[in-house]
Parts: sequence; structure tokens; C-alpha cells
Amino acid sequence: MIKNLHGFIRCVALACAAFLLASCGQQSDDGPILIKFPHVTAPATPKGQAADRFKEIVEERLAGRVVVEVYPSGQLMSDDDSLDALAFGEVQMIAVSLSKLDRLTHKFQVFDLPFLFPDLQTIERFQASDEGLSLLDSMADKGLLGLSFWHNGMKQFGGPVPMRLPAAAQGLKFRVMESDVLQAQVLQIGGNPQKMAFGEVYQALQTGAVDAQENTWSNIYSSKFYEVQDYLMETNHGYIGYLVAVNPSFWNSLPEDIRAELNAIVQEVSVWANDQAASINQDGKQQIIESGQSEVLTLTADELAEWETVMRPVWEQFEGNIGKDVIAAALAARQ
Ligand code: LMR
Repeated sequence: MIKNLHGFIRCVALACAAFLLASCGQQSDDGPILIKFPHVTAPATPKGQAADRFKEIVEERLAGRVVVEVYPSGQLMSDDDSLDALAFGEVQMIAVSLSKLDRLTHKFQVFDLPFLFPDLQTIERFQASDEGLSLLDSMADKGLLGLSFWHNGMKQFGGPVPMRLPAAAQGLKFRVMESDVLQAQVLQIGGNPQKMAFGEVYQALQTGAVDAQENTWSNIYSSKFYEVQDYLMETNHGYIGYLVAVNPSFWNSLPEDIRAELNAIVQEVSVWANDQAASINQDGKQQIIESGQSEVLTLTADELAEWETVMRPVWEQFEGNIGKDVIAAALAARQ
């Protein structure tokens, strides 16, 4: 009898769990659809602003039907965990940096190739090309459907010594995002790469677990990396941007009118956010300079050319993974 009771309770629990997962995010009589949207940067960054704007517009235009909960600054989970959480339906929307999709597909490695994209306009042209757009749904079978791209900005190096030339990076421990290309890039300049979650970087720099890092001005400023980096070098050697992504099962289960409206809002917010990303980064750079806590070095054309020459072999190393066609489309966007 007791055994039967336990069996019965277990069956009910499993049925409830299955029901909850199936109805996850769907509108029910009990209330609106919930979109949980965790991300790792501060609210005042390009991604933080875009996520908040998305919430604001959704809750205005789909009032009572959709609620968006934005969790900034890694307060809910790391980017790596959010990829799993999205696939399992624990969260409904994410915007992880393109570099972190490395574990799902190699095609996105194109965004990490050093000095491939000189500026955000070139990246935008590539993302709008057939090759770029085809990346959006290239991971649908892995529980991730891209809706749009958001910019952060160009990356700069930071370290304990002035690094006008790559030789100065020799032997330094660099934090990199979870990307094999970025790991290879640091090896190319003689550094020691350490893959690490964004939320751990400040402390790692402070305690000396790593010496150096690369990131955008807005991230270096808002996460206070400049407080624990004596020198910041304006190299613009790479890019940080995001894939705004949803779980395809969740997305396809939405009532059609809601899905269409959400998609339109994502596209509208993308234009708005991408327009202001560069100025948010410039502002971060200016604040760092004014703080006087870190010296910002501007490099000469010859110095930058030396960085490019030393890092360039990384392209060939990853060409097979990425695909020549994808790299050719990126090069065509350079004009
Ligand atoms: C990083 O880990 O450095 C970035 O991906 C953080 C971000 O989301 O901009």
C-alpha cells in the first residue's frame, strides 16, 4: 500500500514537472507569458540598455500578455550556464557574446578573428549579408534560435605594463572569453591564455590570478577593470557583439500575434541599440581617462600593424572550422 502510494506520488510529481516544462513561458489563464532574460553586463552597457529597452517596449505594447524579467550583471547565472538554461527552458531569452557560442558551432569563430573587422559598420554589413543572416538559425537543432545581433564594441587590451608592441605581452597571463580563437590569439603574442567567466575577471585581475585582459571600453569601465589594470592599449583588434537568442520550442509555442510583435520589437531595439553602442563605449573610455586610474595608450599605425602581423596566422588556423565562404563574406563587407 505504502509502496503504491509512493509510486502514485512520484507519478503525480513527474506529470506536474512535464506539464510545467511544456507550459513554460506560455500564456495561461493564470497570467501573462514570462520571459526571463539573464545577462552578465551592467545595466549601463550597450547590452544592458538594449535589454531594458526591450522590456520597456514589450510591457507597453503587450501589456498584460507578456512580462519580461531582466537579470543584469550575472546576478542570475553566467553566460555558459545561460546557454544550458535556455536549452532546458529555464530562461526564455539570452544575449551571450558571439565568442561564447564556440561550444555550439565553429562558424561564429569568424567574429573573433583578430583585425578582420576594422569597425562596427563592417560588422553590420557582414551580419546583414546572406552568410551573416544564415548564422542566426544555424544552432536551432541545439536549442538556440538567433533573432538578431546586438553590438557592444571593439576590444582593447589591458595589462600591468605598457604594451605598445606584442612583444610586451610575452609571458603575461591573459583572461579570455570561452573561445578557442581568442586562446590562439593570445598564444600568438606569447601570452598565457586563461578562459574565464566574465563575473570572475575583476577579482582575478585584482589578486594577480591573471595579469591582462581584452574587452570593450564600456565593459572595462562598468566592471571597473581599469581600477586593476595600469595600462589600457587602444588596439581595436577585435569585436564583442551578441546573439539575441530564444529557445526554438518556446518561440514556436507562442501565439502567432505575440511572436510577430516580439520579433518586431527585437528588430526595433536592435537598430536603436546598435546606433548608440559606439557612443556608450566612447563615454566609457572618457570616464576611464578622467579617473586617472589607468593610463590609456593610443598606438601608432606602425605599432598596430605589428600587432596585426603577429596575430594574423590565427586566421589560417581556424579557416577550416569557420569555412572559407564565411570568411570571404566577412572580407567582402570590408569594402
Ligand atoms: C566577456 O565575457 O568579456 C563578455 O562576453 C561580456 C559581455 O557580455 O559583454
